[in-house]
Amino acid sequence: MAMNVYLETYGCQMNAYDSELVRSILQSGGYNLIPSSEGADVVLMNTCAIRENAHRKVYSRLDQFRPIKKRMKKEGRPFIVGVLGCMAQNLKEDLFAHPVVNLIVGPDNYRALPSLIHEAVRNGGPGNRQMEAYLSEYETYDDIAPTRLSGVNAWVAVMRGCDNFCTFCVVPYTRGRERSRSLSGVVAEVEALAEAGYPQVTLLGQNVNSYHDGDCSFADLMLAVADIPGIKRVRFTSPHPKDFPQPLLEVIAGHPHICKHIHLPLQSGSDRILDMMARTYTQDEYLGLVDKIRSCIPDVALSTDVIVGFPTETEQDFQQTLRVMVAVGFGSAYTFKYSERKGTIASKKYPDDVPAEVKTDRMMRLVEVQHQMALSKNQGRIGKRFSVLIDGDAKRPPGNPMGHQIGHQIGHQIGKTDGHTTVVFPKTDHAPGEFVWVEVTGANQSTLHGMAVDV
Ligand code: SAH
Ligand code: SF4
Ligand code: F3S
Repeated sequence: MAMNVYLETYGCQMNAYDSELVRSILQSGGYNLIPSSEGADVVLMNTCAIRENAHRKVYSRLDQFRPIKKRMKKEGRPFIVGVLGCMAQNLKEDLFAHPVVNLIVGPDNYRALPSLIHEAVRNGGPGNRQMEAYLSEYETYDDIAPTRLSGVNAWVAVMRGCDNFCTFCVVPYTRGRERSRSLSGVVAEVEALAEAGYPQVTLLGQNVNSYHDGDCSFADLMLAVADIPGIKRVRFTSPHPKDFPQPLLEVIAGHPHICKHIHLPLQSGSDRILDMMARTYTQDEYLGLVDKIRSCIPDVALSTDVIVGFPTETEQDFQQTLRVMVAVGFGSAYTFKYSERKGTIASKKYPDDVPAEVKTDRMMRLVEVQHQMALSKNQGRIGKRFSVLIDGDAKRPPGNPMGHQIGHQIGHQIGKTDGHTTVVFPKTDHAPGEFVWVEVTGANQSTLHGMAVDV
């Protein structure tokens, strides 16, 4: 009988995509994927290592499997718990210190999963340990068709790895060197997605805009994908500010199917900190890029990532970050407290010396400034109409304590504008994956509320 595998995913979209690859590889290997850990012979966790709390989440989840492991052992049945992804690559055999873990597989070794699980079971199940965590310079899984779960957006990894070595970041160590898929492989995958009815694809990479295949650049790839009949929206994440040549901006500006949304990770506004982070740009250069983007793509929505409390960050440094946030006016921002990662350049060169309460205080102030700006931006949209791609039904019931998320109510649908703002509106006859025009009647800092209209 086929073994039951339950897979859960942590971390970024790249991991979500990799889990789809893993599903596909396991199905081809004769395993049966199930939707919960109940009844599973094998539990796999596709993990993230980006910050300490990502680690913590995984360890506490592993603890939950202790009693199951004990019970299965008593019953003489194999129970495999595997750690995949970035923690597997980063910590390798150290993970075996946790008593439930008996399988460790890095992001470049998923093709070996069926045989590794087989070996773990054959060699006595619970007691057996299998590990494969070698980084590859070539593996792109170009030929594997992922088994996808959701129906509106499809993630498509176009490159893997990162060569930037920002000093705070663990990704170059967990994902290895940059490598791109072939343009023809990506186009074939997106053609199949269009055929299957997906209206939107999001091109993924740790450093997506450094994609290249021979003479073909990321701009060429975007154009090729956006031209595929049936694909109505193309997005991409995460780019690095160093790779925005004019032709790429022109492609984004000029193609009706490419969303006018750019995620532009800032990390810090202080030149001194940016230099210590090895981000390769100054505040001036970053703001210059924002101007260049806005003059080429006037209605562009910008979002960003910011780290507070990088080693030695002073109040003056932090003020520079606030200054850039205000000067740019991002539609949304992900803000993080610096978390020291073992093995990174920053962990070797700079002690993590900003006190936890200072990090928390800066983060709260940053979030407050960002919320105010996002709120006024969204309020300026009241009365305007937007084309919205419907994701599905809005789930949050009315009167929920998270009530500031206005409009997340039963009987409502939820979708996204071209600029990636969430819109909630009373249910229409349109299905997920279809477009409606919505006139905005209300707004908070993260969500627009409105009514579907005929145009
Ligand atoms: N490749 C992407 C994103 C990688 S991780 C990029 O370069 O933009 C996503 C975000 O996590 C980063 O942009 C950064 O803001 C944050 N991050 C990465 N390492 C971190 C660390 N050690 N502590 C806190 N935040 C971190
Ligand atoms: Fe990490 Fe920098 Fe690479 Fe992004 S570009 S994944 S932050 S090293
Ligand atoms: Fe986390 Fe790895 Fe993604 S560290 S953010 S899952 S690339």
